[in-house]
Amino acid sequence: MKPKEIISNLSIDDKIKIITGHHFWYTHPLKEYDLESLLLTDGPSGIRKQSEGADALGLNKSIETIAFPGLALVTSSFNKKLLNRYGTLLGSIAKSERVNILLGPGVNIKRHPLGGRNFEYMSEDPFLTGILAFEYVKGVESQGVGTSVKHFVANNRENQRFSNSSNIDMRTLREIYLKPFEMIVKRSMPATVMTSYNLLNHVYVSENRWLLTDILRNEWNYQGLILSDWAAIKDRAKALKAGLDLEMPGKDSYTINELKVALHNGDINEEMLNKSAERVIDTIQRYQSEQEPELYDKDAFHEAVKDIANDSTILLKNNHQTLPLASKTFSVIGDLAEHPRFQAGGSSKVNPYHVVSAVEALENDMNAFARGYEINEEDSNNELVEEAVELAKKEKNIVLFLGYPEHYEGEGYDKTTLNLPDNQVQLLNELYKVNKNIVVVLQNGAVILMPWEDKAQSIVETYLPGEAVGESIRDILLGTVNPSGKLAESIPKRIEDIPSYYSFNKSKSEENYLEGLFVGYRHYDTKRIDVQFPFGHGLSYSNFEYSNLNIDVNTTHLDIQFDVTNTGQYDGATVPQIYVGNQTSDIEMPTKELKAFEKVYLERNQTTTVKVTIPFDDLRWFNAQTNLWQFDHGLYELFIGESVSDIRLNSTVNIINEQLDIQQPLINEDTYLYEVIERKDEMSHALEKYEFDKMISNINEDKSLAPLFKNMPLRSLIMVNLDINKIYCFIEEANKEITQTTDK
Ligand code: BGC
Repeated sequence: MKPKEIISNLSIDDKIKIITGHHFWYTHPLKEYDLESLLLTDGPSGIRKQSEGADALGLNKSIETIAFPGLALVTSSFNKKLLNRYGTLLGSIAKSERVNILLGPGVNIKRHPLGGRNFEYMSEDPFLTGILAFEYVKGVESQGVGTSVKHFVANNRENQRFSNSSNIDMRTLREIYLKPFEMIVKRSMPATVMTSYNLLNHVYVSENRWLLTDILRNEWNYQGLILSDWAAIKDRAKALKAGLDLEMPGKDSYTINELKVALHNGDINEEMLNKSAERVIDTIQRYQSEQEPELYDKDAFHEAVKDIANDSTILLKNNHQTLPLASKTFSVIGDLAEHPRFQAGGSSKVNPYHVVSAVEALENDMNAFARGYEINEEDSNNELVEEAVELAKKEKNIVLFLGYPEHYEGEGYDKTTLNLPDNQVQLLNELYKVNKNIVVVLQNGAVILMPWEDKAQSIVETYLPGEAVGESIRDILLGTVNPSGKLAESIPKRIEDIPSYYSFNKSKSEENYLEGLFVGYRHYDTKRIDVQFPFGHGLSYSNFEYSNLNIDVNTTHLDIQFDVTNTGQYDGATVPQIYVGNQTSDIEMPTKELKAFEKVYLERNQTTTVKVTIPFDDLRWFNAQTNLWQFDHGLYELFIGESVSDIRLNSTVNIINEQLDIQQPLINEDTYLYEVIERKDEMSHALEKYEFDKMISNINEDKSLAPLFKNMPLRSLIMVNLDINKIYCFIEEANKEITQTTDK
């Protein structure tokens, strides 16, 4: 039966029930209409299905399943196909476990590295996030399982996440924070979008009609279901009115009363109930499954998790080609090698199938192991340090595992430091005194500052690599796999360099996004601030050379092509990144923004031609005054490189978007004299007729006064004795001329 038809038969109570969660993880069933309960489950990097003891904070155990690498790591693959595969694998496990909606991906922008949930978000860049999250969504949904793109929007800090207002100017909101959601919704129509806890510019997101209805529904034409984050709704009636369909989890009779009173008072009407109920029913019909679930081969999935981590792990530094290491030429130090961090806490935490530590995986390749420190302690343990130093003295190479203890980062609170615990840094210092060949392997959910960087010959960033943690790092260390991950976030040198340093978490109730657009590399690159490792950076055991750049400017897009050659000793992959800088706009612009990327695999000596297309639409910026996306006709610089700072090819192109009407702006009394001078060819007759040309040449003769006059609007020229009537006649005449020229 069609949703509308079902609704016409339902009582008010039933309509309210259907838009209200049933227990903790389910929607309400309506058996008489063949509507099953949908099961919604976290996400985003494993299936956290709870059979008993429901909670949204990772407190109670869930069923045993595969722990995938976290999104922070997988995004570093810069690999569209890989994200699709990751989604497909997750979707197929969800299907086997009879989960209908997987609560992910998390696509909030990593605004500040202290953000508590950065480990499960993707990037500081909206384009990278949008493209890769779209692949994730497509992958999961290809299995008949729905996704929940979360947390819509601007949930970029965890402290006071239930009551804090993210205050963001319109251009920044559109270009940075809404952008990934817009890209995903428009390209893939995910089953659900989850609203965040926070307020946006002082209105709760779940009660924000402009956001949910005007933007998400009407402007982006989103047809799926809008649901709340768990317990995000304060006022159900306001949320319904704003366009929020499904409240999770349900508050049973409390909500029924709340909405009935609101209905009675006229705060909401039945049409609103009908619309949301229709969407819930439609979602149930699309995602409930009649098929008997099939079992999945956990060992095969474990293997896939290893491959995914391998394609994403980032080699940050590799002096003197210290890596890869030959078997039996190194010892391993660090508690994390034995007690790894492979996933984070909170709602994303799953009950892993088979965790393999580095100590287990490297058993036959390492010479010895020393613990060195205890992961949950901050103070050095002298005995452990001494033991490790003794080992380092006689060993050729040391592989030292460092990282954040679990309690350093998690859902519901922000981090308080970007530094490693003291005992870990002290251990590194002691080891360095006796052995200079130290390879550091990092396990962490988000950015670690590295004032100790010079003490490591090589640094490998594994983030939270999932349950095959030991096996994937073994492959990288021994060179079975050539690393090809690239940083999806910048690693700054100092916390003070972070663009939102002075505003992040300053107030309990307000989070002011004063840095505007200049998040992550947009800030460091534009201001030329030296970073530890730039956005997009990641080494390989091979080298890649770039040549033969060719750019075609078409009517709606740029076609770009160039060659990449693997000139090193290993087969391997890299990610050419294409950044564009708008050199035309008279509004502030970052020096470069990522507009395309492609992962390419090349055997030794192989060359491939990379071809990418950049639609002009992707070069637009949001004009908050006109409330429109604006395209600037003119010069753009293209940068092709291996990171935002390592540019190998560049070129400037002049883009005229022929699809857009290029109406030259008219002048008025507020037009400055310098603007008139710049555009003198467009109004030469008017200038002559009113003798403005003579005035301009007189002004130009006086070198000291000229800048002052040029910086005056036309209406102020009465200060140099110009008749105001003459000024207005000139403006009229000039505009006639401009219009005629444009019309031709
Ligand atoms: C989190 C969501 C999660 C939900 C259900 C909330 O606390 O913010 O990301 O999907 O709980 O566990």
